[in-house]
Amino acid sequence: MTSSDANPTPLFPHRHLIGIEGLSQADITSLLDLADGYVDQNRQINKKGDVLRGRTQINLFFEASTRTQSSFELAGKRLGADVMNMSVSSSSIKKGETLIDTATTLNAMHPDLIVVRHGDSGAVELLSQKVGCSVLNAGDGSHEHPTQALLDALTIRRRKGRLEGMTVAICGDILHSRVARSNILLLNIMGARVRVIAPKTLLPIGIERLGVEVFNDMTEGLKDVDIVMMLRLQLERMHGSFVPSVREYFRYFGLDYEKLKVAKPDALIMHPGPMNRGVEIDSAVADDINRSVIREQVEMGVAVRMAALDALARNLPNEQPAGYGA
Ligand code: NCD
Repeated sequence: MTSSDANPTPLFPHRHLIGIEGLSQADITSLLDLADGYVDQNRQINKKGDVLRGRTQINLFFEASTRTQSSFELAGKRLGADVMNMSVSSSSIKKGETLIDTATTLNAMHPDLIVVRHGDSGAVELLSQKVGCSVLNAGDGSHEHPTQALLDALTIRRRKGRLEGMTVAICGDILHSRVARSNILLLNIMGARVRVIAPKTLLPIGIERLGVEVFNDMTEGLKDVDIVMMLRLQLERMHGSFVPSVREYFRYFGLDYEKLKVAKPDALIMHPGPMNRGVEIDSAVADDINRSVIREQVEMGVAVRMAALDALARNLPNEQPAGYGA
């Protein structure tokens, strides 16, 4: 029996998860539905399943990461995979060369799934073309971070019951944010209305073409929104001066109760983390248990990554292809 006989209609008909771009509404809904089940599993005493038993997952991180890497590690382990973490410092190496070399070396170890984070946009897709397994993007430059957008969507869907028709404001450093890009794509596919709110210096040119409404003022942009998504000021990606000072940035673009007044009374506050408290978000707002779902996002992250790993593994061949790994 071939693997295509085994999977006549795959749940998620893609070999890799490189971005939200190219996914359909049905693809996204399938992943979120699968993730809902994993949220329940993760709340049990016994969190361990075996759908990835015998599979090898490599987490290859060229950029520092705390929550995303640990979330992918837990996700793989809870599905029964063998998980190996590799952190590669990219400072002293010629990036292009090392990326391909590393990919070929790892490929010879017969992984089934490789999770990659890299500082360059497009690097994860390039790597996916050099390996025989499935690749998941854990963030590439300022391009995409698909599992973050999926976990944000799961958080919203569970709290609000739907994504369609929701008005979501994404605020802050849109220019450097792969989280913003993936979220804009996903929310548009799912029929939400997306606004971006940022100073002009932190907005990419032509952002309107992604199907968003653009605001440069928080009190205008936050009016009647259902969701407020704050972004970190990504100082490490800024070459030059994008904001006059952190204090001034907080005054105009930092989320506090005053600016929040114009949003819907039950608007949810989100942040992908790590947070710069007092820079893009006031500490009291971030910790407000009635409004902020920031910790819930972390919980949803593990479930969404389990769903993505599971869905991709279902499409992997069950037998070793002839001549593979000689
Ligand atoms: C985000 C990232 O790395 O793109 N964080 C994350 O995945 N938890 C956002 C950020 O770094 O600000």
